[in-house]
Amino acid sequence: MHAKPVHMPQPVRIAIIGAGAVADYHHVPGIKLDPRAKLVAACDPNEALLAKRQQDWGPTKSTTKYEEIAADPDIDAVIICTPNHTHLPITLACLEGGKHVMCEKPLGLNFAESALMYRTARDRNLRHMTAFTYRFAPSMIYLRHLLTSGGLGVPRHFRSQRFLDWPETSWSWRQYKKTAGAGDLFDMTIHRIDYAQDLMGQMTAICGAVAQFAPRDKNPDGSACPPSEVDDWSALICQFARGGVGVLEGTTLAKGYHFDGFGHDWAEVNGSEATAVYQLKEPNTILVGRHGESLKKVEVPREFLAPAGSPRDPSQGVPSTVFRYDLMWEFVSAIVEGSDCVPGFDHGASAQAVADAVLESFDKRTWININGDLG
Ligand SMILES: NC(=O)c1ccc[n+]([C@@H]2O[C@H](COP(=O)([O-])OP(=O)(O)OC[C@H]3O[C@@H](n4cnc5c(N)ncnc54)[C@H](O)[C@@H]3O)[C@@H](O)[C@H]2O)c1
Repeated sequence: MHAKPVHMPQPVRIAIIGAGAVADYHHVPGIKLDPRAKLVAACDPNEALLAKRQQDWGPTKSTTKYEEIAADPDIDAVIICTPNHTHLPITLACLEGGKHVMCEKPLGLNFAESALMYRTARDRNLRHMTAFTYRFAPSMIYLRHLLTSGGLGVPRHFRSQRFLDWPETSWSWRQYKKTAGAGDLFDMTIHRIDYAQDLMGQMTAICGAVAQFAPRDKNPDGSACPPSEVDDWSALICQFARGGVGVLEGTTLAKGYHFDGFGHDWAEVNGSEATAVYQLKEPNTILVGRHGESLKKVEVPREFLAPAGSPRDPSQGVPSTVFRYDLMWEFVSAIVEGSDCVPGFDHGASAQAVADAVLESFDKRTWININGDLG
């Protein structure tokens, strides 16, 4: 959908705010791959890391203060990849400075924060995107195509499993409520909430639960740290507005589920005519089966393997990694074409409303109706 014509000079000048793991893993490679984009600045309070990134990523402006990025007239857009509690203030400052913003998930620490981020970007007519990575897996895109074109019949059940085998040592900022908000729920399950809603429509009511098993009171080097305050298992069952029900489960403590660090990531839709399955470990294939058959592997057709116009060659690199570069293609395309990013902050806020409801549901031991009114 084209929201407004934009006469954006190219390349789009992009700053990374938060030069940690995810920035290095796929945001910077995504920028490097896109001839319409240029990495011009990096920001992180960790000066040693910033210096290392000058080597890793090539020379750019570098600063420890995000306020300088927000005020810099030579920066068009920012990617915010900082700990969760900083997403709101950094996003608001960058929108104030007229920057287009891609922000990591969870968008905020709660729905109120996420909805404020959405309204601010919308009212300033700036592009906004939530980095819900798995929407970009070719298998997920093809599954969605099969679903929306009627190939699965009427969708009845959605099911997702995200099982990781992580060490039981400290998760750093990820294990404290003040900096992370929640654990597995905000880290992993929130992605599945997002794509469940993308496939099946809005969730109207959920019943959720979280649990914590690992104390995580030791750092990887054996030194002591304050124990974890957050869940390492999360789950919900849900009803969708368009009909259909869902079951979502995630854990970081599934022993034996290492699989080269990618874990077990399974999502499926059971329709009245057929079932289709996404798996992270093989994102260029899906499993499909009709009544009376057993699921069988089908190659994702070529046109779904990479976005139209993208220079990314889907035959290159580790398939479970390289589709993540397509987030940047979406963000830059929206900036240069004046279209809306999908997923936007509205989707980030909508998923957050559900994730908040999981915590509320478990506290109250009851079903919760979802109210995702963005205002
Ligand atoms: N979409 C995905 O698939 C995905 C994957 C991993 C992480 N994430 C999200 O990305 C974000 C970052 O995760 P990560 O794994 O890269 O964490 P990380 O700890 O490796 O990196 C975060 C970086 O942010 C920096 N930082 C902290 N406060 C800052 C500030 N005020 N200004 C600038 N930089 C600041 C830290 O020094 C650190 O270098 C989190 O919100 C996380 O949930 C998303």
